[in-house]
Amino acid sequence: MVVKIIDGKQIAEEIKKEVSAAVRDLQSKHGIVPGLAAVLVGDNPASQVYVNMKRKAFDKAGMFSQTVNLEASATREELHETIDRLNTDARIHGILVQLPIPEHLDEFDILKQIKPEKDVDGLHPENIARLAHGREGFIPCTPYGVQELLVRSGVEIAGTRAVIVGRSNLVGRPMAQLLLQKGARGDATVCVCHSRTRNLAAVCREADILIVAMGRANFITADMVKPGAVVIDVGINRVEDPTHPRGYRLVGDVDFEKVKAVAGAITPVPGGVGPMTIAMLLRNTLVAAQQALSKRCPGS
Ligand SMILES: NC(=O)c1ccc[n+]([C@@H]2O[C@H](COP(=O)([O-])OP(=O)(O)OC[C@H]3O[C@@H](n4cnc5c(N)ncnc54)[C@H](OP(=O)(O)O)[C@@H]3O)[C@@H](O)[C@H]2O)c1
Repeated sequence: MVVKIIDGKQIAEEIKKEVSAAVRDLQSKHGIVPGLAAVLVGDNPASQVYVNMKRKAFDKAGMFSQTVNLEASATREELHETIDRLNTDARIHGILVQLPIPEHLDEFDILKQIKPEKDVDGLHPENIARLAHGREGFIPCTPYGVQELLVRSGVEIAGTRAVIVGRSNLVGRPMAQLLLQKGARGDATVCVCHSRTRNLAAVCREADILIVAMGRANFITADMVKPGAVVIDVGINRVEDPTHPRGYRLVGDVDFEKVKAVAGAITPVPGGVGPMTIAMLLRNTLVAAQQALSKRCPGS
């Protein structure tokens, strides 16, 4: 079977170009530059890398971005004050708090402080509820990116059996909600697995579309995949590799080399879901700016 390698990098570039064109339009017609504020608490190296990648992507798209750095010891009140300030800053259309945050802070309590109309990561309870109700709202960027990747790769979602491995608030749960929605971008029969799922391999083998977000390097093996299935690997894991200049390399949750011999289509890591996450963040921030404009000037 000839496997199709789904090129997330290329599809993300297409989306970024579309966003850049809309940004230029917004700026030339209305003098508005969509802006993002990323709040970074502490000095987690992986979070710093992600925030820098986002900043570069925003610069390239002609959008404004700002990073607000807070000490790892920042209090709930300091974080709330920072978010309140960004909520009223007219240059900022989107706010994200880079996760994870230090353990003394309550993620839910911090995220609900962001105005829902600036919640471009789609993690505010109002946006979560909107997604669950099938209403418009901001959708978390990674699952949104996976859905876009499927649609733009020509994968039929409606009527298929989709299995999602992982039930995190960031990926697994919103992914399930998206694929359950009515319409051609959804209408799947969805099953969500987690660490207590019995006979995971058998459940995975039922999937026409298998989406894996576990954080376990190379966990999904060829015998867990139905021949011809579409396999989307969300995982990003560091594995030691002395031959690599950094001493490690990135791999997904899927044993790519083995699974590609069985799957009908598969995403690589890196170059699959990762670039889509950033592209969808750009798009969500653009939409936030467009919505702020139409609220201020109806009919614009
Ligand atoms: N590409 C991107 O842009 C992007 C974005 C976000 C995350 N990621 C990556 O995606 C992966 C998952 O991220 P996350 O934030 O969703 O992680 P997470 O919060 O740690 O959730 C992992 C999920 O996997 C489940 N799981 C773990 N081991 C399992 C096992 N042996 N069998 C079945 N289920 C198992 C867990 O089950 P329980 O709930 O029972 O514990 C949990 O639901 C990570 O590698 C992360 O780096 C990538």
